[in-house]
Order: sequence, then C-alpha cells, then structure tokens
Amino acid sequence: MRVHLGPVALKGRLVLASMEEHTDLPYRLIAKEFGANLVITEMGQPDRIAKGDKAALRMLATHPSERPVAGQVLGGELEDTVAAARVVEERGFDLVDVNLSCPIRRVIARSWGGAYLKDPARTGDLLRRVVAAVSIPVTLKLRSGWDEGSVNAPEVARIAEEAGVAGMILHARTVLQAYRGPPDRSVIRRAKEAVRIPVFGAGDIRTAEDAVRMLEETGSDGVSIARGCLGNPWIFSRAQALLAGSPLPPPPGREERLRVLLRHLDAEARFLGRKDLSTRIVRLALYYAKDLPDFDEIKRAAHAARSFDELKRALQAAFRGCR
Ligand SMILES: Cc1cc2nc3c(=O)[nH]c(=O)nc-3n(C[C@H](O)[C@H](O)[C@H](O)COP(=O)(O)O)c2cc1C
Repeated sequence: MRVHLGPVALKGRLVLASMEEHTDLPYRLIAKEFGANLVITEMGQPDRIAKGDKAALRMLATHPSERPVAGQVLGGELEDTVAAARVVEERGFDLVDVNLSCPIRRVIARSWGGAYLKDPARTGDLLRRVVAAVSIPVTLKLRSGWDEGSVNAPEVARIAEEAGVAGMILHARTVLQAYRGPPDRSVIRRAKEAVRIPVFGAGDIRTAEDAVRMLEETGSDGVSIARGCLGNPWIFSRAQALLAGSPLPPPPGREERLRVLLRHLDAEARFLGRKDLSTRIVRLALYYAKDLPDFDEIKRAAHAARSFDELKRALQAAFRGCR
C-alpha cells in the first residue's frame, strides 16, 4: 500500500523513526535496504543549522539512494526553525519533519520541542510559517499531548492539517511520560479519525508483529519504528513480509547478525572518516547482540577491545564462538 505525503509517494507503510545518535546516514541506508519505506535524520537544532554549524549540518548529510528521506528539525525559535527548514530543502531532502515531541529537559526549558504541545495556537503559527517557507512537504512529529490531563493530539493534528502539513508521526505517549509507561494507542486512532492526511503510529514497536498490530488497532496509515530497530534492521524485512501476507521469516542467525553488524561498523567508520572506538560505536555493536544468550560475554569482549579493528575481531570471535 502506498502512502502519499503530498507529492511524495512512499512504497509502503514502514518508517525508520528519527533517533538522535542512531539514525545517521549509515544506519538509514541499512534500514532502507531492509525495507524501511521512509527514513528520517536525527533531529537537528534549528539555531545551529541556521548558523551553519558544521556538526549540525553533518546530521543533514544525505545520499540519493536513501530517498525518500526526511530531514528533521527540532521545533525551536520561529525564525530559526524556518531558516533550518530551508536548509533541509536546499540539501535535497524530500520532506522536512518538524519535531514537536522532544521531551529532553533542556529543550523544554527553552519552550522548544514537546513544549509546543502546551500551546496549539503557537504550534499552528510555527507550522504555517514552515509550510510557507519551503516547497517540499512538511511533516510533523508529535506526542499525545503535554501531560495526561491535556491529551490534545487530535486537536493538534487538525491544526497541523489546516496549516498545510502533509502527514504526521504520533508517538502515543505524553511529553511528561517521556519513554515511561505504555503508549495509549487510542489517541492514534482518534488523531487518524480527525484528519485526512496520513498518520503514522509510534510507540513500543519491538517486533514485526507489533508493527502489524499497531496498524490494525489504530487504523493508522503507517507505523514508525524506533528502539525496536536498534541492532535489528530485520524488523523491517520481517514486518514487510507480514504486511505482504507472507509467513514471518525466521529471525536472523548469529552469522547473519555478525555480517550486517560488521558492515554497519565499516560504514560508520567511513562516514566519520576515522576508525573510532567511541562509546557510540561499542553501543551500536552491542545492540546487535542484545537478544543473544551470551550477551554478557560479548559485552565483556567488546569492552576489552582497545581499537576499532580489535573490536571487530573480538566481535567475530564472540559471535562465532558460541552456537
Ligand atoms: C535514543 C533515542 C533518540 C531519539 N531521538 C529522536 C529524535 O531525534 N527525533 C524524534 O523525533 N524522536 C526521537 N526519538 C523518539 C523516537 O523517534 C520514537 O518516537 C520513540 O522512541 C517511540 O518509539 P519506540 O517506543 O518504538 O521507541 C528518540 C528516541 C530514542 C530512544
């Protein structure tokens, strides 16, 4: 089933969610290859993008083979957010995704991100300005509401549609909930019923079956997969199989996990332009081992490595050592 975000047609219903420190270009290309129909960058800080800050612009690195792709901008000060959206367009993205869902304290303290949901009129103003500033479609990332006493995603969804937004991803937790407690999927259904533009559901999609359940339970147009795809791009291929009515493919074996992990590490090293042994790289590697019975041993081996190449050798030995 195709999903249309304005003139941008997605070939299917699965989205790789935006995740800071995770959904960089190398991982987006892997997720795409495994079946993600839309990939989204990590959130960029609008003031930094607007100023041309190198690290912020690096997050907006893209490649034609990952298209369709959205560049995400955190909702910040109005003029900066508009300027940052223009940069996203100039860089060749198909869509600009505005993040009004971020619950991080320093973001909220500046009335950015999820703080917008406290004020639907301010949200409407921002979205109208961004839509007017770019010629690519604008999408919105939002949550159920600010807190459990002010769940307003259906209202914000309508305001966004009126502002000209082409679609939205709704994480069915409130901003104050952050990542705690179960998502309330009934909000996704209500938001979907409130608008004609596509709504993608998000929250606790850990398996391919969860993705299908989300679509069935909420009637949403698509589903956005976040933590469930860390070290697990197979979640996309497995969910695509279920959506096509095929049997669920078996989970990847150790050799297959290792193969994709090593490719991912090499792609990161190329992207960063150096072979780093940062906590980020070790963490990335360990996600691929998280479901294995000997995770603790693999973790010990990974932490003992003193260089990037040593890490790769340690992982090879650990993944192959125990079957
Ligand atoms: C480590 C991490 C980083 C995240 N970074 C972003 C981000 O940059 N932009 C964004 O819109 N959402 C971000 N999110 C939220 C996810 O996109 C997603 O909405 C949320 O995790 C709910 O899905 P899940 O329960 O399946 O993980 C992040 C989540 C995590 C766990």
